[in-house]
Amino acid sequence: MLPFLSKQKLAVGLDIGSHSVKVCEFAEAGKKTKLISLGTAQLPVGAVEDGELRDPETVAEIIKKLIDNLGIKSKKVAISISGYSVIMKKINLAVMTEEELQHHIQAEAEQYIPFDIDEVYIDFQDLHTNEDDEGRTDVMLVAAKKEVVNRYIEMLEGIGLKVVVVDVDAFALENAYELCMGQDDNVILVDIGSSKMNINIISGGASVFARDVFLGSRQLTEQIQNNLEISFEEAEDLKICAQDAGGQLPQLEETFSGACTQWVLEIKKALDFYNSNYPEQPIDKMVISGGGAHINGLDHYFANESSLPVELFNPFVSTMVDAQKIDQEYLSFVAPEMAISSGLASRKVPF
Ligand SMILES: Nc1ncnc2c1ncn2[C@@H]1O[C@H](COP(=O)(O)OP(=O)(O)OP(=O)(O)O)[C@@H](O)[C@H]1O
Ligand SMILES: [Mg+2]
Repeated sequence: MLPFLSKQKLAVGLDIGSHSVKVCEFAEAGKKTKLISLGTAQLPVGAVEDGELRDPETVAEIIKKLIDNLGIKSKKVAISISGYSVIMKKINLAVMTEEELQHHIQAEAEQYIPFDIDEVYIDFQDLHTNEDDEGRTDVMLVAAKKEVVNRYIEMLEGIGLKVVVVDVDAFALENAYELCMGQDDNVILVDIGSSKMNINIISGGASVFARDVFLGSRQLTEQIQNNLEISFEEAEDLKICAQDAGGQLPQLEETFSGACTQWVLEIKKALDFYNSNYPEQPIDKMVISGGGAHINGLDHYFANESSLPVELFNPFVSTMVDAQKIDQEYLSFVAPEMAISSGLASRKVPF
């Protein structure tokens, strides 16, 4: 097709988490985008674990049902991965053209990545940090295990979907934030999922620190389960409706504070790293997302501990919404856990 006839289309964003699948679809409406589909479906425990697809049949069935129920017609999907099979690493290199960089990374990747180079997909982004002509620049290098990525692609092909973008959770989160809020602020984005936290510090319009930490909201449910000697389901209910804990409230509060302290420690580590490397560009705020961000009072706790203003992320704050298809109340409620799927749904793909 001639380039001027080729259309850019938006892929359907599909965030396959360890707790639930999130789907988000935008349509272009003039210069803006409109949210036309949105939904989530819970996955059985263990179907996706440590970022890996463990039970492809069950996950495929749940995704198919969700997409059919939402009436989504597009077959092109953008997915993201995270966990132990992805490495995100910032490296400092001599300034090169894009092509030279490509060659250099292909030839030298082994020294940066602890995986067999034939077994990973590699991607990179020049962060263009060479402001004062020093001749060196930072490059964000990403490597993902082919086997893990291919398993997702095959599972989705099995239900007639074509994967057109494979992103990384932390960068999809960044994409969602930048599209919604712009690139002016220096922010720390923290997505608290079920089994991991993605931390991404954006400074000067680029990601300067991205890390997955294997702590999440399910760990809190498991601790409640153990401490109160109740079932996982009862613990999950108590976590979500902590005010109903009655006489168990003090014990519950102790468990919450134990888990949240661990989360804060990881956030503080990232902030310490950032502040010592970029002392002239202080962080303006922390933006939290993911299902774990719903925990009552977490924003205040993080604000006290980090001395930063903390906001709950609503990636749809400035998006037009198809009000006939999407209930406003439901949208506001699920918005924080839709952050990554909305970032994926904003990826343009040639059509
Ligand atoms: N209102 C709430 N209060 C507290 N926790 C909640 C609430 N709603 C959801 N959660 C928790 O959020 C977690 C799910 O979050 P999310 O959907 O972001 O995870 P995920 O993306 O599936 O997991 P991951 O990204 O870690 O693989 C679950 O542990 C769930 O218990
Ligand atoms: Mg998630």
